[in-house]
This record gives sequence, C-alpha cells and structure tokens, in this order.
Amino acid sequence: MARSRRATPRRYLMCPPAHFDVTYSINPWMDPAKPVDGALALAQWEQLREVYRSLGHTVEELPCEPGLPDMVFTANGATVVDGRVFGARFAHPEREPEAEAHLEWFAANGFTHLHVPVHINEGEGDFAVTASYVLAGRGFRTNPLSHGEAQEFFGRPVIGLELVDPRFYHLDLALAVLDDAADEIAYYPAAFSPGSREVLRRLFPGALVATDDDATAFGLNAVSDGLRVVLPQAAAGLCDALRERGFEPVGVDVSELLKGGGAVKCCSQELRV
Ligand code: ARG
Repeated sequence: MARSRRATPRRYLMCPPAHFDVTYSINPWMDPAKPVDGALALAQWEQLREVYRSLGHTVEELPCEPGLPDMVFTANGATVVDGRVFGARFAHPEREPEAEAHLEWFAANGFTHLHVPVHINEGEGDFAVTASYVLAGRGFRTNPLSHGEAQEFFGRPVIGLELVDPRFYHLDLALAVLDDAADEIAYYPAAFSPGSREVLRRLFPGALVATDDDATAFGLNAVSDGLRVVLPQAAAGLCDALRERGFEPVGVDVSELLKGGGAVKCCSQELRV
C-alpha cells in the first residue's frame, strides 16, 4: 500500500526565458541549428510558474539578462541550504556571468550568509539535498574539490557521485529527491559509475529506480514538495511509478526548454531558508 504523503510549502527562484536561445552547444541536447520558439518557451515557463503558485509555493524572480541565453536554468546559479548560499562557478565561459547575477540577487534579497566558491560547481545542477546528505555530482561540470568545499560550508555530509553518461551531464538529470524529509529519491543507475551505483544502493535501498525512457524524457529533472512531483509530462512511466508510491505527479510541457538541455528542475532553484 502507498504510504501517506505530506506537502510542505516551498520557495523557488526562477528566471523568465526572455533571452532564452540555443546559440552554443555545451551539452549533447543543444543544437544551435534547431530554431527555438521564444514565445512558446516563455508560455511554457509561465505555465510552470503557475503550477508552483497553484500548489501554494512562492516563486521569486531573478531578472534575466541579454547575452545569457541559459539564465533560465536558475538551478545552476547557487545552492541554498539552511539559508546559506553556496554560489556557483560555471564550467563554461558562456555561462560564467550568471554566477555573479545570482550572488547579487541574494545579497539584495536579505541573504547574509554568502559563499563565493573557489572550485567549479554548477549549483543544484550537481547538488541535491536530502534529509541526511547533500548528494553531489561530478564527472562533467562540477569539480570534485567543490564537494569538500560545500561540506565545510553547509556542515552536512556531502556524498560524491560520479556521472558517466554525457546525456546526463548534471546530477539533476539522473537523480531526483522525492521526499527530502525522509531520504527518498529516484535515480537512473546507468548514468552513474559502478561504485557510485553501489553507494546509491547502500544509502537508498528503497529508491525508485527509473528506466532509460524516464531518464531520456528528462523525468528525473523533477521538483517535489513531498507530495506533488512536477516533471516533464513525457515521462509517463515515471508518473505511474510515482502514483504507486503515493505521490501526485504533475506533468508539464517544457519542450522548448529541452532544446537547451534542461527541464523542470533546471528552471527552479529551491530556496531552503
Ligand atoms: N544549457 C544549459 C547547460 O548546458 C542547461 C542547464 C540545465 N540545468 C540543469 N540544472 N541541469 O549548462
């Protein structure tokens, strides 16, 4: 029988895709030759924001800047735990200025505990927060040295996980936190090295194991409030598996944002205060 679930209100930082485009390629999903429908991207993003608001969550907005077409993916701009802001440092020069824009927003919005990182890390793209751990991806973007840096700043155990499939270049494409009060996650094993797979099996024996179809539909790029799980609607199999566990999947259409190699979670940075 599915266990009973409880939603808790969340706060997300989002950035409208007014300047979203695919003008360079820094992951296998990005093809600058494929046109992006800017109006559709904006409509899909507004729909996602509306879903969060209708679920009772708060959405803060980071103003978007011209010349930064990936800025819509706010999850990469920082990681916030216990009100402490661990800034990002991007792997690619194209995205570098986004880190500063995020830190300025936090400084202007009452966050006082800010950390300017020494090592490359792409925020919640590679950091996922459960009740007991901060899970940390590496292999494509985030420098493993940032894992220790984050552990020291947050005072929480950071578990390093090696990503091996370039399609899942960020942790948040291969792993989703379903219940952050109870260490419940979903993940796609083939995206991880054998050792990291074993670590995940040991730490999360009850995890939802996602299929290749779920993962390639960006189903793990999901945002959960403990009950409702917002995810790309194309991940139909994952929606069924979530329902069996007592979650309420909420599918959204993010087809335009997929062209940048991101989906629901990428557009939503959680402010854990
Ligand atoms: N085009 C962006 C990049 O490659 C997409 C970022 C997706 N964000 C995420 N949290 N996975 O950097």
